[in-house]
Amino acid sequence: MILVVGGAGYIGSHVVNRLVESERVVVYDNLSTGCREAVNEQAIFIEGDIADEKRLTQVFSLFPIKTVVHLAAAGLEVESHENPQLYYENNVTATLVLLKIMREHHVKNIVYSSTALTEPLHEKSYIETTNPYARSKYFSEQILQDYTMAYKMNCIVLRYLNASDIQVEDLVNAYSLAIETVVKNEQSFKIYNLGNGQGYSVKETKEKETITKSESRIEDTPVFIANLQKIQQELGLYAEKNLQRIISDTWNGHQNKNFNF
Ligand SMILES: NC(=O)c1ccc[n+]([C@@H]2O[C@H](COP(=O)([O-])OP(=O)(O)OC[C@H]3O[C@@H](n4cnc5c(N)ncnc54)[C@H](O)[C@@H]3O)[C@@H](O)[C@H]2O)c1
Repeated sequence: MILVVGGAGYIGSHVVNRLVESERVVVYDNLSTGCREAVNEQAIFIEGDIADEKRLTQVFSLFPIKTVVHLAAAGLEVESHENPQLYYENNVTATLVLLKIMREHHVKNIVYSSTALTEPLHEKSYIETTNPYARSKYFSEQILQDYTMAYKMNCIVLRYLNASDIQVEDLVNAYSLAIETVVKNEQSFKIYNLGNGQGYSVKETKEKETITKSESRIEDTPVFIANLQKIQQELGLYAEKNLQRIISDTWNGHQNKNFNF
């Protein structure tokens, strides 16, 4: 059985839609930014916060969880500059609580959702994060690595950035593959970049709109292009969508939006 924390959110709900086709799934989410209606009816939904030890313990006692997919986080870069405490508490401290309860219940497999941390790059590139949100993700990665080694866990970290409606399909493929892989691994910590390996300028994404130039924002990073060699070589995963499809599917997705993410 798979526990998806943050499974009522934008990406989580898509991941759950795929997982229920072949697995029993429990979604645990505090609905801070998620949407109850987005959770697939075949999944069991429990409202709760991953910082809530007591409630998490009940969930792990009640269900035979083997793998955790961790998507529960506050995720707005600008907000993270304004309120770093929220980000470190919700994304780092609460992750520690989740890991503690996993350990107590001998659950060893975790797929963690991280963000692209710096300019392109290989998974081992020098890390220079630009905002408290990204730092909260980086600290959590470090914690996960230590836990993996010390407590013989298996962890796959997926790093990506600014998913839009069509890339979600590629992301869901990546999560599926990561879940499949993590359960086969033994005491292993892997980080994989996701993306399509190409960079697009803002100009390229705005064919028909007027572009207004302005000062760059404090949280902006000038270039983000993921190097995808590792995930392609090790897991055989290739992104399917090009820029044209990303834009048209994102546009169509916004026209037909059912949920308020
Ligand atoms: N969307 C992106 O482009 C992107 C890029 C890189 C990484 N990520 C990461 O992927 C994950 C999902 O992102 P998303 O875009 O779907 O965001 P989202 O806000 O739609 O989903 C996050 C979900 O987690 C829940 N949540 C937050 N804190 C919680 C807590 N303490 N306990 C229980 N539930 C909690 C929210 O209610 C929400 O349902 C996040 O960890 C995010 O940092 C997203």
